[in-house]
Amino acid sequence: MELLKGIDYGKFLGSLLFFNVVVSSVIGIGVNWGTQATHPLDPVTVVKMLRDNGFQKVKLFDADSTILKALGRSGIQVMVGIPNDMLSSLASSVQAAENWVAKNVSTHVSSGVDIRYVAVGNEPFLSAYNGSFLATTFPALQNVQAALVKAGLGNRVKVTIPLNADVYASSTSNPSDGDFRADIHDLMIEIVKFLSVNTAPFTINIYPFISLYNDPNFPVDYAFFNGYSTPINDNGRIYDNVFDANHDTLVWALQKNGFGNMSIIIGEIGWPTDGDRSANLQYAQRFNQGFMSRYMNGAGTPMRPGQLDAYLFGLIDEDAKSIQPGYFERHWGLFYFDGTAKYQLNLGTTSNSNGLVPASNVHYLAKKWCILSPSASADDPQVAPSVAYACANADCTSLGYGTSCGNLDARGNISYAFNSYYQIQNQVDSACRFPNISVITTQDPSNGNCKFKIMIQAASPGTGSGVGFLEKPVGLMLFMFLLLFTIM
Ligand SMILES: *[C@@H]1O[C@H](CO)[C@@H](O)[C@H](O)[C@H]1NC(C)=O
Ligand SMILES: *[C@@H]1O[C@H](CO)[C@@H](O)[C@H](O)[C@H]1NC(C)=O
Ligand SMILES: *[C@@H]1O[C@H](CO)[C@@H](O)[C@H](O)[C@H]1NC(C)=O
Ligand SMILES: *[C@@H]1O[C@H](CO)[C@@H](O)[C@H](O)[C@H]1NC(C)=O
Ligand SMILES: *[C@@H]1O[C@H](CO)[C@@H](O)[C@H](O)[C@H]1NC(C)=O
Repeated sequence: MELLKGIDYGKFLGSLLFFNVVVSSVIGIGVNWGTQATHPLDPVTVVKMLRDNGFQKVKLFDADSTILKALGRSGIQVMVGIPNDMLSSLASSVQAAENWVAKNVSTHVSSGVDIRYVAVGNEPFLSAYNGSFLATTFPALQNVQAALVKAGLGNRVKVTIPLNADVYASSTSNPSDGDFRADIHDLMIEIVKFLSVNTAPFTINIYPFISLYNDPNFPVDYAFFNGYSTPINDNGRIYDNVFDANHDTLVWALQKNGFGNMSIIIGEIGWPTDGDRSANLQYAQRFNQGFMSRYMNGAGTPMRPGQLDAYLFGLIDEDAKSIQPGYFERHWGLFYFDGTAKYQLNLGTTSNSNGLVPASNVHYLAKKWCILSPSASADDPQVAPSVAYACANADCTSLGYGTSCGNLDARGNISYAFNSYYQIQNQVDSACRFPNISVITTQDPSNGNCKFKIMIQAASPGTGSGVGFLEKPVGLMLFMFLLLFTIM
């Protein structure tokens, strides 16, 4: 008491606040940059976007050299990724791991890319993979770690494995009953021990959206950060959102097995904006802002008070991602495919104080769209196979119950599919020749929230994968398909 007497509380509080600001700006929020898009933005444009928004860390899914070059001397910390399909070769050969590190880490570190982590695999133990990567992930991790040490990067670059939250579970709704999944329990302990010995973090992807998507009875408010009417009381620890509960289930699993101090990175967290009735702009904004407020106030979770470390998922929509998990998969971006912001989001950075900053210098194709011809009937027998073809080769994930274009009528649906194909094919004339039923228009067919895209000009060759591959076979494929259909 005596000691506190002379303190100027205003100043004291001020310095505490200042300290908080400094701490949060040092930690900085990260973001995932995935590139499974038919028309990815130019990497230089994306890096400018990252900086303009004050992102301090970026997580990649591979080690694309054009992207890494663009990140050189940007001041942004980088997690590079190793795709699952490379795990077996890295597991079986120390030399392969050394080559990977030399080419994809050492070279870039020496030219000023601030690589901090190597993500070995991406959710390799996902139940849906049926154990395909169980045997190779840990040996690959060990080989990459050894290669980093050999390259003199052991202290600077840490290994980790981004895992899906399905690697652990609680038998009750209490986090304190959490432990690693039974079928991989021993493997997880070996991996955690290895990470711990090498002072490497545990990386976990947590998706409250999926809880809601998988279970129509999941309480909506429990998915967000605005309070919940019947919170879980776990021996005095109160959980009013599933993020905290999920995160702390991991903390308990680690603690129970003797690794209570292991540092945790949230590798992916976010909410999609389209492709499902629970995927929309309002929910995404509510979730991401709720998470960011939590992140910025540094409160952490009941079991881990303090600053979180996280990468939002994701930066930009990816229209070439597999839709096997669901239509929402192509709509996780804070930004649309063209780098325009979807909603306001305060990231707590000075550069972002007026909301998300869009990409600059984006070039679009001409203002024209491909639609169902006004003279064609929606019942024309050519329609069904044409729509099926367009959707299989383009992106119809904004069509369907509860999606942004879910209220279109039958003609609108058909036009949407035709246009998506036409745009993804860079508006080549041959991509709007559905037999006698399609026509090019210069009148925007967009309808309220339902946007008929105009594609952006593809990044110049070599700056991204998946740009050129669709172009050449288009006319031929379409022709062959239609020929086949006509014959049938
Ligand atoms: C470097 O990473 C790229 C992209 O993931 C990969 O294609 C390539 O094989 C890697 N290089 C080596 C030498 O392993
Ligand atoms: C996993 O098994 C299921 C059911 O047997 C199958 O449908 C699926 O294609 C398999 N997935 C992989 C990645 O092997
Ligand atoms: C965790 O860290 C604390 C403080 O640094 C230390 O007292 C404790 O022994 C550590 N526990 C474990 C399990 O390493
Ligand atoms: C439009 O397409 C969606 C998705 O295929 C479908 O669910 C919906 O019923 C269609 N609407 C009409 C009016 O045909
Ligand atoms: C398109 O219309 C023209 C003229 O009406 C007709 O001759 C032609 O057979 C039609 N083509 C197809 C593929 O239906």
